[in-house]
Amino acid sequence: MTSAIFAGKSDFMTTWLIANWKMNGDATRVRSYAFTLNQSLARVSPSLVCVFCPPATYLADAKSMLPLNAQLKLGAQDCHAAAKGAHTGAISAPMLRDVGAAYVILGHSERRSAGETDAEIRVKIEAALASGLTPIVCVGESRAVYEAKQTKAALNEQLAVLKGLETDSLLIAYEPVWAIGTGETPSGPEISAAHSHIKSVLGSRAPVLYGGSVNAGNLGEILALPSVAGVLIGGASLELEQMSAMVAIAAKK
Ligand code: PGA
Repeated sequence: MTSAIFAGKSDFMTTWLIANWKMNGDATRVRSYAFTLNQSLARVSPSLVCVFCPPATYLADAKSMLPLNAQLKLGAQDCHAAAKGAHTGAISAPMLRDVGAAYVILGHSERRSAGETDAEIRVKIEAALASGLTPIVCVGESRAVYEAKQTKAALNEQLAVLKGLETDSLLIAYEPVWAIGTGETPSGPEISAAHSHIKSVLGSRAPVLYGGSVNAGNLGEILALPSVAGVLIGGASLELEQMSAMVAIAAKK
């Protein structure tokens, strides 16, 4: 199944910047961020795709600030597996699409640590694809697994949820759990090794991103790794100034 958003072959050349605001922000900040970020994107190459993922409550606010042909895309941070029904508090993929999301982050380690299982992630990916959302599927090892040098085995387990899916229409974000929000990052060779492993397991054209303590200081070095198609940024994406600096750096890749 090919998502309506994903452009296919030309995405080989695309650099992705995903701004994951997690549970931060308010309507005023979301609106001005979306407006200004879209303006700065208009000045750089269209091969840089920036996806802003505010809390779902603010997706419509962000959308309201963007022109029809906006370069800035919107993403959600999670979705429910069902399209509708008795699921109090949950938000479905078609609802996210309805308020302007084109992407959805799935399997983030913060959702996994809140109890989300691989089986649940699989059905969410299917739901997202069925609604025309492009899933950004997060995988990555814990610190214990990293220290035990079992990263590949952990990735194999998490990637197994993609079995049977046409993974060309997904984005994969390699996010070591120990690098998220800690200021620590793996070395360049470690990122490259994990990315090569992911690509060989999937055997597809799915772009593989890196996430975990990315900021304007280390972005250039990370994007210089040939296997890295883009980044998923948490904390450093919250400030417009940092984000604009990262757009300028990524535009040079
Ligand atoms: P961080 O978060 O950039 O704050 O480390 C990344 C993420 O959670 O995806």
